[in-house]
Amino acid sequence: MTHIFANWKMYLDVVESRVLGETLVDTWKTHDNINCVVFPTPLAAVDVTEICEGTPVSVGAQNVAWVPRGAYTGASSAMLYKNIGCTYALVGHSERRYIFGERNIDVRKKTEACLEQNIIPVICIGESQKDRDNGKEEYRIKKQIMRVFDGLNIGDSKIFVAYEPVWAVGTGIPCDPDEAEKMHIYIKEQIAEFTDVQVPILYGGSVNADNVTGYASSSHIDGMLVGSASVKIEEFSRIIEAVAS
Ligand code: 13P
Repeated sequence: MTHIFANWKMYLDVVESRVLGETLVDTWKTHDNINCVVFPTPLAAVDVTEICEGTPVSVGAQNVAWVPRGAYTGASSAMLYKNIGCTYALVGHSERRYIFGERNIDVRKKTEACLEQNIIPVICIGESQKDRDNGKEEYRIKKQIMRVFDGLNIGDSKIFVAYEPVWAVGTGIPCDPDEAEKMHIYIKEQIAEFTDVQVPILYGGSVNADNVTGYASSSHIDGMLVGSASVKIEEFSRIIEAVAS
């Protein structure tokens, strides 16, 4: 099974999100080996979840608050997303960490909130360019994994990790597939220090229809988390076809 997750970020308005969701499910061919999840803007989450209901495409939240309800202006909790039928959530995306100041402790709390609500967390980790320039990519990854996984009660739940090097996100500079594979092996080793649960690891960062097979052909890369290329239906369909074939 290859996981192809589409992070629509804040690229689309509600109408555009509906159209993309409808086109995706209408044009979906039978792909038993692909697990596809889309992450729309929160404003379109209800609509897109309705559109995808009963189809092979699942829907996730781009971000969650860790408390279920209350006086948290502007926030939407894992519980509220669960109520509308979302089954996944991105947690700790680099844009949340670097633009909105999320810390590892926040990522941990959001992960716990997802697990409590039976939402599958997709924990995003990755080093910055500065980390890499200083040879600290493994240090950064190790720390991010430790802060989330140490003592985490996963139980029978599913959990994903996305390796998204910050320097490759939205830059058009993808991580070389061999380097991504090396990092995935390291990530799996680090996670194994804390849990026996098999955690699929996705690669994200400037994935497109032309480079996707380089990642999909690695047995250590369990799928891709696609950003800008996922909101162009022709390109996203080419990504799915390339991986499915
Ligand atoms: P891009 O594919 O646009 O580089 O974004 C990747 C990403 O952030 C997915 O979460």
